[in-house]
Amino acid sequence: MPSTVVVGGFFGDEGKGKIISYLSKKDNPSIVVRGGAGPNAGHTIKDGNTTYKVRMLPSGFLNKNARVMIGPGVVVNPKVFFKEIEEFGVSDRAFLDRHCGIIEQNHLEQDSKGQLKEKIGSTGSGTGPANAERAMRTLKMAKDVGSLSSYIIDVPSEINTALKNQEKILVEGTQGTHLSLWHGTYPFVTSKDVTASGICADIGLGPKNVNEVLVVFKAYLTRVGTGPMPNELSSDETEQKGWGEFGTVTGRPRRAAEFDFNLASRAIMLNSATQLAITKLDVRFPECAGVKSINDLDNEAKSFIKNIEEKLNVPVTLIGTGPLIDDVIDIRT
Ligand code: IMP
Ligand code: MG
Repeated sequence: MPSTVVVGGFFGDEGKGKIISYLSKKDNPSIVVRGGAGPNAGHTIKDGNTTYKVRMLPSGFLNKNARVMIGPGVVVNPKVFFKEIEEFGVSDRAFLDRHCGIIEQNHLEQDSKGQLKEKIGSTGSGTGPANAERAMRTLKMAKDVGSLSSYIIDVPSEINTALKNQEKILVEGTQGTHLSLWHGTYPFVTSKDVTASGICADIGLGPKNVNEVLVVFKAYLTRVGTGPMPNELSSDETEQKGWGEFGTVTGRPRRAAEFDFNLASRAIMLNSATQLAITKLDVRFPECAGVKSINDLDNEAKSFIKNIEEKLNVPVTLIGTGPLIDDVIDIRT
């Protein structure tokens, strides 16, 4: 803080939603703003007994003092936007930029068949086809949709003014570094750059106004959809380790592998990471479930974290130890 950009370091689903919810409660930013591709991204947040599945709004909405915003680089499905506003009760503090692109029925249809579905394993959310149309300069914008008019705000002005006024802003990225259109495993990637630089461009935050870049890694690797993944485990091995997961948006089983230092190191370089978060430590080391202090981790878990810091040379500042928002070890200084 004052401005912290949170991005995924692997193939998405690193647990950004939970980390962002934690930071939005703990650090009390006045704005939580989402960059990234579109409603192809799904974040799961568990607050007590309630589970939220978020695709369109920033995950920071649980902090009632925060305004939540979607930057102009993001494509929006108005149906998903309105559904989440109602479900989360945030109609008085949720906003989007007039230049957000609009996903329509034809984008959903194009995304659910042919090469996007079969070869790339797209999420079918219409995000890629809408971004393609945006590049063609034919996509409808939020300002052209009457029902959105009361939610429109100048997102770049709002966030830059907040920073001038010494307020904190939290920037939420989507997907993960190795799904970036520029830097990922092309063609098995999403339809935008999703590294920190791309996310900042999506919301209108210039590079000199970024204070912290927090790259989130899961304690193991998962990937949903097609495309290469180093040292991929068989589904039996995945099951045995307890690393089997299902996609938030698509419900598809996620493929899994061991934590990968090459991918992690490249993500740190591409994002200029200043801090790392490691999530799901409790899935790897069940003894760590719910632990809130680094001193209470057992030796195996401690050396797993220490090894990451030594090999990657960036401090691990947040560690996820369970599905609840507060299941976090916070070692920021
Ligand atoms: P698309 O972004 O829906 O076109 O999907 C392209 C590729 O990115 C597919 O392999 C998807 O499974 C993957 N993908 C897109 N969004 C996410 C995400 O939020 N988490 C994980 N994988 C994603
Ligand atoms: Mg996800």
